[in-house]
Amino acid sequence: MKSEFTRSPEKIIKTKEREIFVFDIEGKNIDYKVVNEFGDEWLKFYEHDDDLVKKGGEEYFDILNNQIVNSNTYALDIGCGTGRWTKYLAPKVGFIEAVDPSNAIFAADKLLENIKNVRLSKASIETLPFADETFDFVMSIGVLHHIPNTRQALIDCVKKVKRGGYFFIYLYYNLERRGPFYKALFKSSDWVRKIVSRLPGRIKHFVCDVLAIIFYMPFILVGRFFKFLGFKDLAKRIPLHGYQNRSFFMIRNDALDRFGTRLEQRFSKKQVVEMMEAAGLTDIVISPGIPFYHAVGKKK
Ligand SMILES: C[S@@+](CC[C@H](N)C(=O)[O-])C[C@H]1O[C@@H](n2cnc3c(N)ncnc32)[C@H](O)[C@@H]1O
Repeated sequence: MKSEFTRSPEKIIKTKEREIFVFDIEGKNIDYKVVNEFGDEWLKFYEHDDDLVKKGGEEYFDILNNQIVNSNTYALDIGCGTGRWTKYLAPKVGFIEAVDPSNAIFAADKLLENIKNVRLSKASIETLPFADETFDFVMSIGVLHHIPNTRQALIDCVKKVKRGGYFFIYLYYNLERRGPFYKALFKSSDWVRKIVSRLPGRIKHFVCDVLAIIFYMPFILVGRFFKFLGFKDLAKRIPLHGYQNRSFFMIRNDALDRFGTRLEQRFSKKQVVEMMEAAGLTDIVISPGIPFYHAVGKKK
């Protein structure tokens, strides 16, 4: 089912599991510092257990159905990181290409051990080695908000989708649904991010672990306590409620993701829809569930 590459890789790296195809990642719409930092992050946090992949996958892909993704689907995961969502989708599709410009691709190689219907390539959105209109389903989860020009990146990703195929995206939301307390909390945490994300590697990783304990855990523990007492609605109103059923490993990983990344952008629901339409998508569905916003659209 896999297509021919549109050009030859610069290098092919043979690992225990497979061959990894390495393409250049030169481009205008890429932040190399961000990419390198993600490489470090994912090499540290690649051991996602099956339960985490299952729970996270069910949350993200609540808006998919058998028409969008099935055993005949040729899929592409752009900015796959550790390949955790490739892993979730692999049993549900015919074949999936997983692509990332960072060294995270080697973490994906380990996480996707024994999964045969996957091919891994080191490439960026601008250097994807596939012809336009190749895929039935393309996804990019938590990637395009870390790219200088999100709108253009979205257009470039959608080019790879066949007419009548689907594009799935997760972009950070701009907190438009939140009250003033939450927004103020976010604003101050964003200042912390701007400082922490510029620290050297090891110190940054350590500081993010500390933040996971002193910033994330108090909210999460209060929320879990309310849940334990049966006050589920109240628990949902506590900041970071999405982490109340997550492992500490995932919380540390997300603390590094959140505070360790120097470039992030946030979007309103209206902006997400508008960018998806501008890329040529229709029948857009934005999930009402967390994480906000994840959406799917059909290519015209
Ligand atoms: C927050 S991680 C998300 C990884 C994965 N999709 C997930 O949800 O676990 C963002 C990923 O985007 C990748 N990335 C950054 N710039 C990119 C670009 N220009 N093209 C493709 N991927 C890029 C990074 O290397 C990183 O692995």
